[in-house]
Amino acid sequence: LAVLSVASEIYPLIKTGGLADVAGALPAALAAEGIAVRTLVPGYPAVLDGAESEGEVVHRFDSLFGGPARLVAARAAGLDLVVLDAPHLFARAGNPYTGPDGRDWQDNPFRFAALARAAAEIGLGATALPPPAVVHAHDWQAGLTPAYLAYAGVPRPKTVMTVHNLAFQGQFDASLLGPLGLPPQAFAVDGVEYYGAIGFLKAGLQLADAITTVSPTYAQEIRGPEAGMGLDGLLRVRSGVLHGIVNGIDTEVWDPATDPHLPKAFSAKSPKGRAAAKAALQDRFGLARDPDALVYGVVSRLSWQKGLDLLLEALPTLLSTGAQLAVLGTGEPALEHGFRSAAAAHPGRIGCHIGYDEATAHLIQGGAEALIVPSRFEPCGLTQLCALRYGALPVVSSVGGLADTVIDANEMAVAAGVGTGVRFQPTTVFALEGALARTAALFADKPVWQRLRKNAMATDVSWTHPARRYAALYRDLAGAAA
Ligand code: ADP
Ligand code: GLC
Repeated sequence: LAVLSVASEIYPLIKTGGLADVAGALPAALAAEGIAVRTLVPGYPAVLDGAESEGEVVHRFDSLFGGPARLVAARAAGLDLVVLDAPHLFARAGNPYTGPDGRDWQDNPFRFAALARAAAEIGLGATALPPPAVVHAHDWQAGLTPAYLAYAGVPRPKTVMTVHNLAFQGQFDASLLGPLGLPPQAFAVDGVEYYGAIGFLKAGLQLADAITTVSPTYAQEIRGPEAGMGLDGLLRVRSGVLHGIVNGIDTEVWDPATDPHLPKAFSAKSPKGRAAAKAALQDRFGLARDPDALVYGVVSRLSWQKGLDLLLEALPTLLSTGAQLAVLGTGEPALEHGFRSAAAAHPGRIGCHIGYDEATAHLIQGGAEALIVPSRFEPCGLTQLCALRYGALPVVSSVGGLADTVIDANEMAVAAGVGTGVRFQPTTVFALEGALARTAALFADKPVWQRLRKNAMATDVSWTHPARRYAALYRDLAGAAA
């Protein structure tokens, strides 16, 4: 079965968050299920440079929203891609969504409408590529894909819309309807209209044959007003086609037995090499070289979603338990400043690196005793999955995918020898402080801590099971078409 995946980022070519990891890792896992995935991505410089060879031009647009464009079938990093080479839209270095001033590119509606338009052309068999049975659109950037296909008025492939984060919806002025090539009747409640504007994600959620999101708990949460962010009504109506499928991680990229970013290899069976990573981590973050310290790590975008302002407030409690903290992140200036000041105020106890750095992310996962993820909402979350695999116990708020992937080491769990981390709720400073105290108590009991770490490292965080669920969904949809 052939699937066209449509994504605005893909690891290892271009990444701002977990979407890239998912788009980059899912195709290989689906191949094992007999699903052939080709991924349509924008031709940013990083993508064009990453392609292994020239590639084959499979389609030309004389004009696609203001300039000529080509679709180029290419391979990169083991992935089958079709690259939308449209220099007037994508030949811009840096972040895929924002300009050098940090603001969204003005023409983003056209840049990502172009992505959807190209996906629809491929879906309808209008290019030299064989048409796929299913077109799978990720997040708002690909959200118009189901719309263009639905309004094409000809036989079309089935469509899946996946929400990785409902907080980003892609809303644009109603006056763009015609310029985006949408028919007048699309501007309706059952179309692309969203509170008087055009909603790209809304369009996809409304018009796709199936909706998925990246964990069962988030799938439930977004049907309610708080996490639903204005789309809960629609999602309640479409409950019957909404599925929660938890993410996996690429267990080759994230493998402590072969990880080049770790000083020593280790594994669930022989976790001894963790000690070297812990020492290296303490060195890198200017923390006191103490093999017995409870070192917490953070690897995160610094945004409201991630709840790290709560961690800043809970620092006195963290320090009072004798723990250390290593923070890697970038994002909101106030949070960057907060962690920088905390590190300056507590040398040897708190260290921070402001920036995006994969090598350091791997070192934190391999060297920290525990990873803190106090998100206010979290569709899935990938860092806690990496942490499980690397034996850093996740200390997480009980929301979304965090609730689905971490087993709380409560009294009964510990007595039964299960548990893979610590969960707390609600997402408040008070509850986080309680979790930090509980973690410190667990850490003080070495046999218990080792058992929990063993459980964590034995967790299956691969794509094997999730890929099976996507494959079953595609087959259902394609079968229904036949
Ligand atoms: P989100 O997509 O909401 O940011 P996820 O947990 O799903 O959250 O994915 C985040 C991804 O980005 C993970 O692969 C994580 O390791 C990576 N990451 C986040 N911040 C950094 C950073 N500062 N340096 C390196 N990697 C980071
Ligand atoms: C989004 C979410 C994150 C999820 C990722 C991949 O960025 O914030 O929770 O893991 O997408 O699905």
